Amino acid sequence: MPGIVVDRGLEGVNVGETVLSNVEGEVGRLTFRGYDIDDLAPKATYEEVVALMLHGTLPTAAELAALEAKLSSLRALPDATLALLRALPREAWPMDVLRTAVSSLSLPLPHKPSGVHASDVDAALSLVAKTTTIVAAWDRLRQGLEPIAPHPTLGTAANFLYMKTGKEPTAEYAKALDQYYVLLVDHGYNASTFSARVTASTNADLYCAITAALATLTGELHGGAPSQVQDSLVDVGSADKAEQWVRDLIKRKGRLMGMGHREYKVRDPRAKHLEETAKRLNNGGGSYAIARALEDAWNKVIAEEKPQARIFANVDFYTAPALGALGIPSDEYTCMFACSRMAGWCAHVLEQYANNRLIRPQVTYTGPEVHPFEPIAERGREPAGSARS
Ligand code: ACO
Repeated sequence: MPGIVVDRGLEGVNVGETVLSNVEGEVGRLTFRGYDIDDLAPKATYEEVVALMLHGTLPTAAELAALEAKLSSLRALPDATLALLRALPREAWPMDVLRTAVSSLSLPLPHKPSGVHASDVDAALSLVAKTTTIVAAWDRLRQGLEPIAPHPTLGTAANFLYMKTGKEPTAEYAKALDQYYVLLVDHGYNASTFSARVTASTNADLYCAITAALATLTGELHGGAPSQVQDSLVDVGSADKAEQWVRDLIKRKGRLMGMGHREYKVRDPRAKHLEETAKRLNNGGGSYAIARALEDAWNKVIAEEKPQARIFANVDFYTAPALGALGIPSDEYTCMFACSRMAGWCAHVLEQYANNRLIRPQVTYTGPEVHPFEPIAERGREPAGSARS
């Protein structure tokens, strides 16, 4: 239609405001409420960042202790959710299970049909606390093992690893996962966050908004990518095969998962932290060495074949060798993303409620002109005068 601009993919379209995170794609900087992730990743715990997102400031020592205790008290799952998990088929994909189980968390809550209910910071903390429990419980149930009750004193990351095996993780493993959780907490109006905000803008409650976000995260163009990075690393096989592998991929116009980003025109700032973690946990070898060689090969081949393209490693690329080294199965990588992002999604939903306007964009209609209704007896007939000879 003349005069109407269609922005497929909303690229570059500004659809709102947030104080929660800032993605500076040209310089490769990510900040949460003004704090650079380069400072937060080595210096803050996940719980400190949860407080930052949901309460607005970094916590004092006393506030942090109170938050940690609260999260710990909220980790156990309601009976209805645990029963649901037990009833699901063992071959179910962990993200489908997580989406279904998170949705069930609102079932025991009193429902108020009109308006937002149970959608406050306490509900957000409950979701943050229970998400890791669901992922760990499902990992055990699908192996025919009983879920392990949350540890009363461990933090979010250490407790997650504990709930998988019943053994307290090493400080190095706990710190590595904690840092992963810190890095992925928030990222502007990414697709899943936007989806949550659209849902919240109808006054649907927090659980509905988060369920929408979880569904949106699953796709390979968003949170589904790291499992496929892992598949690529296995397919490449060894560092010396990386360059030929990339050349073959480019020749058949394939996509390398973990590369490219709508916002970042340089390397994703989260990638360097995850690369360091992957390198350390793999002692510089294993899947880390293949990933490193693959990134080098990618940068070389892209510079030759598509010199204008600015397609660099994103957050998902080194997620695969980092989480793999922690013993996390690759079909759970998207769930790990969700465990972290839960705090960011909730903060965005609460921000949406605080200054809400229904999100309802326009679309350009490109179908047929208005035309007469055909009674059912006349449908499928050749129009008069067009009979076949
Ligand atoms: N591999 C190969 N080519 C790529 C890649 C890639 N990973 N990413 C972009 N391109 C190419 C496209 O083929 C296209 O080329 P063309 O212009 O010759 O057709 C061009 O770059 C633009 O691609 P778009 O998909 O239009 O760009 P967009 O801004 O939508 O890309 C996206 C962002 C979807 C993330 C893309 O880079 C991609 O598919 N990456 C792989 C999947 C991935 O890693 N997803 C996780 C993203 S991070 C996150 O969500 C947490």
